[in-house]
Amino acid sequence: MPYTSAEALLERSILYYQGQAVGTSAACDDRPAAANYDECFVRDFVPSALVFMMRGDHAIVRNFLVTVMQLRSQQPVMPGHQRALGLMPASFRVVEEDGRERLLADFGELAIGRVAPVDSAMWWMFLLRAYVRSSGDAAFAQQPDIQLCMRQTLELYLKESFEAAPTMLVPDASFMIDRRMGVYGHPLEIQALYYGMLHTADELLAAGEEHARLRETIRIRRDALRSYVRIYYWMGRDRLNEIHRYHSEEFGLDARNVLNVYPETIPDWIDGWLQPGSGYLVGNVGPGRIDFRFFAQGNLLAILFGLATEEEAQGIMRLYQQHWEELVGEMPLKIVFPAAQGSEWRYLTGSDPKNSPWSYHNGGNWPVLLWPFIGAARRTGRGDLAERVMFGLGEQLMKQKWPEYYDGRHGSLIGRRANFQQVWSAAAWIIAHQLMEDPASGALFDTLWAEPEPQDK
Ligand code: GLC
Repeated sequence: MPYTSAEALLERSILYYQGQAVGTSAACDDRPAAANYDECFVRDFVPSALVFMMRGDHAIVRNFLVTVMQLRSQQPVMPGHQRALGLMPASFRVVEEDGRERLLADFGELAIGRVAPVDSAMWWMFLLRAYVRSSGDAAFAQQPDIQLCMRQTLELYLKESFEAAPTMLVPDASFMIDRRMGVYGHPLEIQALYYGMLHTADELLAAGEEHARLRETIRIRRDALRSYVRIYYWMGRDRLNEIHRYHSEEFGLDARNVLNVYPETIPDWIDGWLQPGSGYLVGNVGPGRIDFRFFAQGNLLAILFGLATEEEAQGIMRLYQQHWEELVGEMPLKIVFPAAQGSEWRYLTGSDPKNSPWSYHNGGNWPVLLWPFIGAARRTGRGDLAERVMFGLGEQLMKQKWPEYYDGRHGSLIGRRANFQQVWSAAAWIIAHQLMEDPASGALFDTLWAEPEPQDK
């Protein structure tokens, strides 16, 4: 039974510190693809946490939140500057030294490519709210140490930098796609998480004068971010036509092509592919730049967090329906479409063989994306798509030992360097299964997201 198998894997992955469950390891493979897959990654723990909360097991989530918060003090001193406390680790491990257990965090200084885990604090904030909602333990978020941690995090995430837009500017590889993939700048996934984070903070920051200014800053940024993403990231037929006929080099306040995007950047594949009535939020937007690739996680989170309008959310789900083979495939779901190939692959990935076309982050299929997909299908009333994706899937994933990802245009091949027994693959399937089978889990899940916001486009 896939359910029993997935649950057993999740159970086996639990990490203990001083007798307390504090997280889950990324994989339980005997021969993992990299040495740190036995660590607890903050982003990987999210689906595990959702499963635990659905079954009323809140202690591990609370312990995780406290552990990650405390680990911030382990921030390494970077040559030349002291890093902000608001950054949370990518992962942590439990080690034994002289018969004593110790927790060791990695803020990206050990990770392959030394990448900055910008998404960690955003997921932490999401889990904090989810924990409060699910357990009813509102007092936890009001504790002085948690409030301080939120403030320090917000200080970093709201800090004025060199942005010209309300979106957040980040380096390459700062989220789930944690290798060089040309996702620097203003990637959609970070914007969706940022929006969710600002929502959460507004709700969980203690009331009172002390937070009045911070709260105002949060609201201004959140509302501006929402409008901006809805205008500049949305790609439907009308928008595509508009860009195709754009004038460029427009100076001043009346410019229509504000970012000076040249129509020549529209990729060939999009003509005919983007059908009327459907659409999506593009992967990245910046000066003279639209990354037209479709990134699944960003789009699905934008639906769940209410960053996309209702109409856009429907358009995204219709896109899935129209391009099922390409975007869902045999083993769901495509992380990004299309894959970068040839010279584009060379300069976007730095000739990374792990990210060869239609593999891993470069167009591979990731079972972990199941949970946001089923969640988004639920939110948009597309139960038909949820059923279609789940049909026979659990048996297949179990038989193939819960791979981390699949390769190929249609995702039929087990990823060349994929781990087996990848915990978030199993946890995502459990969430999806529960959402389909158990109304109580569904009701809880629905409370974890922001209310739909006005159509202020
Ligand atoms: C890979 C993934 C990353 C994940 C980690 C652990 O590095 O790209 O998103 O957190 O593995 O599973």
